[in-house]
Amino acid sequence: MKRLAIFASGSGSNAQNIIDYFSNNKKAEVVLILSNKPTAYVIERAKSADVPYKVFNRDEFYQSLQILEWMREYRIDFIVLAGFLWLVPDYLVEAFPNRIVNIHPALLPKYGGKGMFGGHVHEAVIAHNETETGITIHYVNKRYDEGNIVFQASCPVLPGDTADDVASRVHQLEYEHFPKIIDKLLAELD
Ligand code: GRF
Repeated sequence: MKRLAIFASGSGSNAQNIIDYFSNNKKAEVVLILSNKPTAYVIERAKSADVPYKVFNRDEFYQSLQILEWMREYRIDFIVLAGFLWLVPDYLVEAFPNRIVNIHPALLPKYGGKGMFGGHVHEAVIAHNETETGITIHYVNKRYDEGNIVFQASCPVLPGDTADDVASRVHQLEYEHFPKIIDKLLAELD
């Protein structure tokens, strides 16, 4: 049984989906949720799902060993970033080589990098008259959105789409694929 930690800064609908997927799957379990935002809805989801959670500030994340201590305490095998907005520090990447994945709501290398998150991504996609967009699941390295790509899936951008329309189509792709790809990567760890 692999033990997963999920980092999230926002609503956490992907975190929820991953918790649900692995609650019916004996191969892994979400054992810890971590957030830099005490008011993030993902914390409510952790409480409802009875998954332990931790909130940390910038100093704890970048200047202390607190996160690594939690990773040890909860015996974390694999880390998932699901709507987590801070750049992952070197010490964490080095402690979990090829064991941290992120999901990005566009087809990287397009529309990635600092500041490209949430609605900004979908607005940029529309402003550039793209006819398709999608999701990218990639390993995390020391630079935003530049780790090796594991998986991509695409969906159309239709004439007249708003950023919200695109976001909801992209979210459906995320829900469909992210847990299955995590499952596959975990199997490859053995
Ligand atoms: C997702 O679109 C994900 O791709 C991006 O942030 C969003 C998080 O949504 N990195 P949620 O918090 O999982 O609902």
